[in-house]
Amino acid sequence: MMRIDIISAVPDSLTSPLNTSILKRAQDRKKVEIVVHNLRDYAYDKHKQIDDKPFGGGPGMLLKPEPFFECIEKLLSERKYDHVIFPTPGGKIFDQKTANNFSLVENILIIAGHYKGVDDRVRQRFATDEISIGHFVLTGGEIVALAIIDSVVRLIPGVLNDSESALNDSLMDGEFIEAPYYTRPAEYKGMAVPEVLLSGHEKKIKEWKEVQSKVLTEKWKKINSME
Ligand code: ADE
Repeated sequence: MMRIDIISAVPDSLTSPLNTSILKRAQDRKKVEIVVHNLRDYAYDKHKQIDDKPFGGGPGMLLKPEPFFECIEKLLSERKYDHVIFPTPGGKIFDQKTANNFSLVENILIIAGHYKGVDDRVRQRFATDEISIGHFVLTGGEIVALAIIDSVVRLIPGVLNDSESALNDSLMDGEFIEAPYYTRPAEYKGMAVPEVLLSGHEKKIKEWKEVQSKVLTEKWKKINSME
């Protein structure tokens, strides 16, 4: 079974997303074990302090190195990690290919610090993968950790049911966007579902989906300046 560890100063922010819907089911089915570590449990001074003022000045507080080192060194003494992921806007942009690669390994550790917020020696000593989820700034690594975990866990065999299969996902084999989906009612507020989808004509439906997919893929490339 795959194991994912996350270290966070705000572990409560992870609880609900990790225990809902498909991520919950994946854990119930023993396809993945997800273990959240509260950084504060590794602060051994009497005030359990996990942050301090930055050297050289500047606004805000930094997460101290010692609790991270204590926690990470303990985890590393227990098992080998294939990837130690450090979320940062300066990292490599996360994509489906990286999600696929992560889904094939045994053990992943995600260090969810706060932006401008972790003593850099933590990254220097432990990070194997510096990952960004886009050209924007979040307050911390927790949402990044959740995005990575969600995209990786759904790729583990047996997590999705056949009907939810990841095989024909958008972006799955390289670079394409799927055709849109519709369900009942066939007409709603004057908006009709494309006729062909109601026709029962399998070949025509397949062709329609291919055309839609092409159109949406072109649009996607254009609005993202990809060619
Ligand atoms: N930390 C803050 N913003 C981030 C982003 N966009 N990606 C990864 N880590 C971050």
